[in-house]
This record gives sequence, structure tokens and C-alpha cells, in this order.
Amino acid sequence: MDYQHIVVLTGAGISAESGIPVFRSETGLWENHRVEDVCVPSALVRNPKLVHDFYNKMRSGLKTKVPNAAHRAIAKLQQEWPQRGGSVTLVTQNIDDLHEKAGSMNVIHMHGELNSLWCTACGKRFFFDGESSPDMSCPYCGKPTLRPDIVFFEEIPYHMDEISAALSRCSLFIAVGTSGVVYPAAGFCQYARAQRALCVEFNLERSAVATNFNYGLYGKASITLPAFVEHLLRTGEPLTQQ
Ligand code: APR
Repeated sequence: MDYQHIVVLTGAGISAESGIPVFRSETGLWENHRVEDVCVPSALVRNPKLVHDFYNKMRSGLKTKVPNAAHRAIAKLQQEWPQRGGSVTLVTQNIDDLHEKAGSMNVIHMHGELNSLWCTACGKRFFFDGESSPDMSCPYCGKPTLRPDIVFFEEIPYHMDEISAALSRCSLFIAVGTSGVVYPAAGFCQYARAQRALCVEFNLERSAVATNFNYGLYGKASITLPAFVEHLLRTGEPLTQQ
């Protein structure tokens, strides 16, 4: 089997067609906020209520969002590729739950998850889909030291060991809807290329790291990705053009 181990990296673009705005656009997810007010560790010290409220709003918005055909195509690949002896590792930079809603299992959320809180005193993380506040007590240790379980700028992404292990054995690397400007995720393609993996990007336009990929399929991911997955499952070969 030529493309036994597949790694899929997704970014905000895959959820755009589900109604979640991407980060780097005029009406981006940061809305009227500066990144340094809501997405750096010092913001939690300076104005914790603003940080909690910002993620509360995003979290409550998730409830009505549904996955699109691109999320579903990845879930299908994850279900069917192992039946042929392969593996699919799904790494997302997204903090939404649309991969899970589409049926994906073992989603690696390298930038954290909206539906999770983290206690900085006892270290526990737990599912949470309500409204948090800085004075809320941790259900495990009782201290008011909870924060949204989001990886802020200046912090190290989660699960890097697991991601490196998957990249080091991967034979096909797919990046979907990511601009390629935020590291370390933007560097995954180079790492996969060094392992001789075939690397394909799916985007509306060439990303900042497009030259690192073998080729790209450009257009809406809800169209390009299902076609790619169907072809891969039917023939065992990656589609090279639409
Ligand atoms: N289909 C495919 N690609 C799309 C679509 C679509 N329907 N809509 C938008 N895109 C592409 C855009 O062209 C852009 O390249 O998705 C990309 C989104 O880029 P960003 O907004 O920069 O999102 P992302 O790459 O996920 O950002 C990385 O940066 O702000 C931090 O932590 C945050 O995880 C985020 C990280």
C-alpha cells in the first residue's frame, strides 16, 4: 500500500463553510478584539473577564454550527482507510467541535478546545459547554483558577510528541484550509516531505507555504476534499487535479 499512513492537518478554512469565520480576514474571528487582549497569557492576568467572555461567546456560537462535506469526508477516510491496513491521524488547529460532530474519532486538537476548561492549579482538564468566569471554582480542587483550554500565542501547542510520531511515519500529508503562517503547524509539511511523504494542500488560494507541497487543489474544501477522498478510497491513489 503506497499511502498507508496519512496525516491530515486542518485549519480555520475547513470550518468557514459551516459559518465559523477564519482568523485572517477582514471580518476575522478576532472580531473587534486585539489578539493581545484575548489570546496571550498576560491577557488572563490583566483582564480575565474579557478573556472568559470572548471564549464564552465563541463557545455558545458553536451549538448551532454543523459540519460540512469536508469534515464528513475526513471522517469517512478515518473510518475506511484502516480497513485497508492504513491509518489516518487527524490534527486540527481548530478549537471548534465540527470534526467530532462529523464522526471523527481521536481528533488531536493542537490549539486546545472551546468545550474544555483547564485548571492551572491542579492541572485537570474537563468538558465544559457553558459560560465560564474568572471566579468559578475548579470542580476538582476548588480553586478559582480555571481558564479556557486554549493554546494562546507564546504557548506551546498540545500533543507535539504524538504529532511528530505520526508525521515521521506518514506517506501522505494533507493540509486543509490553513494559511501556513502560524508555526509549528506551518512547518509540518516540510517535516513530512523530509520523510518522503506526498504533500497536498487544499485551500481557496496558495498558502504562505504552498511551495513546500507537491501540489495543491484550490477551491472550496467542501468540493475538493470529498472528491479527493472518494478517489483515494476507490483507487488507492491521490487525485492530482479536479
Ligand atoms: N476551503 C478551503 N480553504 C479555505 C476556505 C474554504 N472554503 N475558506 C477559507 N480557506 C482558507 C483561506 O484561504 C486561508 O488560507 O483557509 C485559510 C484560513 O487561514 P487562517 O484564518 O489563518 O486560519 P489558520 O491557518 O487555521 O490559523 C492558524 O492561527 O490565529 C491562530 O490559533 C489560531 O489556529 C489558528 C492559527
